Amino acid sequence: MDIPSLRARFASISETKPISKLMECTRGPGGLKKVLSPLELTLLGIGAIIGTGIFVITGVVAANYSGPALVLSFIISGIACAFAALCYAEFAAMVPVAGSAYTYGYASLGEIWAWIIGWDLILEYSVSIAAVAVGWSGYMENILSSAGIALPAALAGPPGTDGGILNLPAILIILVITGLLVLGVKESARVNTAVVIIKISVILLFLFLAFSHINPANWSPFMPFGWGGVITGAAIVFFAYIGFDAVSTAAEEVKDPQRNVPIGIIGSLLIATVLYLAVSVVLTGIVPYYQFAGTSAPVAFALGEIGISWGSALVAVGAICGITSVLIVLMYGQTRIFFAMSRDGLLPGMFRNLHPVYRTPVRATLLVGIATSLIAGFLPLQAIAELVNIGTLAAFIIVSVGIIVLRRTRPEIDRPFRCPLVPLIPVLCIIFCSVLIIMLPLVTHLRFVLWLAIGLIMYFAYGTSHSRLHDDTAGMECWDAGSSGKP
Ligand code: ALA
Repeated sequence: MDIPSLRARFASISETKPISKLMECTRGPGGLKKVLSPLELTLLGIGAIIGTGIFVITGVVAANYSGPALVLSFIISGIACAFAALCYAEFAAMVPVAGSAYTYGYASLGEIWAWIIGWDLILEYSVSIAAVAVGWSGYMENILSSAGIALPAALAGPPGTDGGILNLPAILIILVITGLLVLGVKESARVNTAVVIIKISVILLFLFLAFSHINPANWSPFMPFGWGGVITGAAIVFFAYIGFDAVSTAAEEVKDPQRNVPIGIIGSLLIATVLYLAVSVVLTGIVPYYQFAGTSAPVAFALGEIGISWGSALVAVGAICGITSVLIVLMYGQTRIFFAMSRDGLLPGMFRNLHPVYRTPVRATLLVGIATSLIAGFLPLQAIAELVNIGTLAAFIIVSVGIIVLRRTRPEIDRPFRCPLVPLIPVLCIIFCSVLIIMLPLVTHLRFVLWLAIGLIMYFAYGTSHSRLHDDTAGMECWDAGSSGKP
C-alpha cells in the first residue's frame, strides 16, 4: 500500500461519526417506538443490575478476599460506578441511540475506538450472560436439593469442581431465554417490573428477617485479608453493578430520553447500591465470613444457618426470578450492540437482519445463546466474572475519555445532562477503574489482551473495508421490532 492510501486509511479509522447522522436513524419511520417511562427505565436498570453479584458473588468474596469488610469493597466499586454513571448519563442524553458506549465512542473518539469498545462490550455481555447463568444454576440446585432432588455431580458444575463435567442448569436457562428472545418477548417491560418487585421484596425480607440475628462478633476481625483483599474484593464485586449501562442501550425506546435516560441510569444504580450495602453488612453480621466458602447460594444459606429455612426457600425462589431478569436484559442488550455495529458495517449484515415473522434478530440471538451457553456450561464462575469485569472497566475508561475529548472538540453540542466537574469526575473514574483492573489476576489481563488482539485483526480484515461511515444510505435501516422484540 502506498503512503497516500495508508494516510487515507488512517484518517478513516480515526474519523468520528457525526451526532446528527447517529440521530437521523432514530427519527426515521423505522425508528424504535418510544414507549418506556422513566420509572420503567429505572426498573429495567434494576432488572439488569441486581442478580448474581449480590445473590452469589458476595459469598465468594467475603470468604476469600474481603471478610466482613465486604461492605467496603462494595463502596469502592460503587464509587467507580457512580463516576461512570455520570459520564454515561451525559452521553446517553446527548446521543440517545441504540448501541451504548460503542455509539458514544464513534461520536467522540473515532471508528477504531468505537470498534474496540464494541468488541469489548461483546466480551462483557457474552461473558456476563454466562456468569449470571452460573449464578442462576447455583440457586436452582439449592432449591432442587431442598426438595430432595440432587443433580448428579457431573451435570452440576464445570470441569474442575467436585466431579463436574458440565453445568447443565446454566446451559438450559440460556437456551430457554434464547428461545424467548427469538420469539419476541411481548410486554416484557411489564414482566420485568413484576420480577423487579419480587427481587426487591426478597432482599427486603432477608434484611428484615436477618437483622435481629446480627452478632457483632462476626465482624471481627473486620479485614482478615487486609486492604489488598478489600480492593481485590472490590474488583470482583464490581460485577454486581454491571447492568446500569444496559439502560443506555434502550435509549432509543425511551420517552423524552434527554431527561429520562439520566434518571434511569443514576436512579437504578443508586437503589442497587443502597441494597448492596445493607445486604453486605447484614450477611457478614449473621454468619462468620469463612462459612461462605464453597456455597453457591450465600443469601439463602445464611438464612438457613440462623434457622429460618422457610425464609431461605423464599429467598432462593426470589433470587431465581431476579437472576432470570438480569439474563433477559443482558441478552437483549447484546443483540442491540450487534445491531448497531452491523448497521455501521463493522460486523456482517446478518446481525442486523430480522426474522420475517418475529421481527427479532434471530441469527445474532442464536449465536449469542450458543456461545454463552458453552461458556456457562464449562467454566467456573469466578474466572468468568473477572473477565467480565475487566471488559466493563475498560469500557468505562474509554467512555470517560470520550466525555473529556468531546467537551473540548465539540463544546457547542446541546448537552441536556452535563456530568458535573469535568474533567475531575471522568479522571477519577479512569483512576478508580484502572486500579480495579490492576487488582485483577494476571491471567485475566492476558485473556483480555488476547481478546482485543483478535478484535483488531477482525477490524482490519473486515471492518475497515466494510465500514459504512461514508455511505449516505447507511444507518437508515433501523430496528423495527414492532411490538415484539422489546424487553
Ligand atoms: N450485575 C449483574 C448481576 O449481578 C450482572 O447479576
